[in-house]
Amino acid sequence: MVNNIIWHESTVSKVDRQRLNEHKSAVLWFTGLSGSGKSTLANMVDAKLYARGVRSYVLDGDNIRHGLNKGLGFSEADRKENIRRIGEVAKLFVDSGQIVLTAFISPFLDDRLTVRHFFHNGEFFEVYVKCPLAECEKRDPKGLYKKARNGEIPNFTGISSPYEEPINPELVIETDQLTIEEAADEIIMFLEKKKLIKR
Ligand SMILES: Nc1ncnc2c1ncn2[C@@H]1O[C@H](COP(=O)(O)OP(=O)(O)OP(=O)(O)O)[C@@H](O)[C@H]1O
Ligand SMILES: [Mg+2]
Repeated sequence: MVNNIIWHESTVSKVDRQRLNEHKSAVLWFTGLSGSGKSTLANMVDAKLYARGVRSYVLDGDNIRHGLNKGLGFSEADRKENIRRIGEVAKLFVDSGQIVLTAFISPFLDDRLTVRHFFHNGEFFEVYVKCPLAECEKRDPKGLYKKARNGEIPNFTGISSPYEEPINPELVIETDQLTIEEAADEIIMFLEKKKLIKR
C-alpha cells in the first residue's frame, strides 16, 4: 500500500481481452539509432496488423514527447524517466489486450532492462533496428545528424551520447540489408512464430 492508494483488481482480465481479440497482447520494443527505421517499421507493421484485424498501436518517441512526456529533455535522467513512462504506458496497452509497438531510440541497456522487467515472459520483445551510423547519417530523414555535427543538438545519440547495443534482443532487423517491406514481413513472421497472432 502506497499512501493509502490500494490497487483495484479489474473485472475484465487481460486474458479475457485477448480471447475477445483472438490474439495475444505484447510489446515490440524497437530500439536503434535515430534514422535506423524504428518509426517507419513500427508503422508498417501496425498497418499490416490492422489489415489482419489485430488490435495494435504505435507509441512513437516524438509524438509522446509532444504530450505525455512534454517537459522531459534529453539528459540522462530525463531519458530514463521518458523510457520508464513509456514502459508503464506500454504495460497498460498489453493489459488492454493489444500489440503495442514502441519506437524510441532507448539507447541505454539499463533502461531497456528495467522496462523488460515490467512484463511477464513472452510479453516483451526487444527488436534491434540495426543500421550503421554512417547509413543513418546519410539518410538523416529529419536533418538531425547535420545539426548534431554542427553542435546544435547536445547529447545526440551516436554523435555526442552513446548507444548501447542490445545484448540478447529477441529480433535483429538490419535495415541497410532489407527493404522496408521485407523488414516488416520479417517482424510479422516473428509474431506468427511466437503464436502471438494467427497465420
Ligand atoms: N529497411 C528499412 N527499414 C526502415 N527504414 C528504412 C529502410 N530502408 C530505408 N529506410 C529509410 O530510413 C529512414 C528511417 O527513418 P525513421 O524516421 O523511421 O527512423 P527512426 O529510427 O524512427 O528515427 P528517430 O529515432 O529519429 O525517430 C526513412 O527515411 C526510411 O524510408
Ligand atoms: Mg522515429
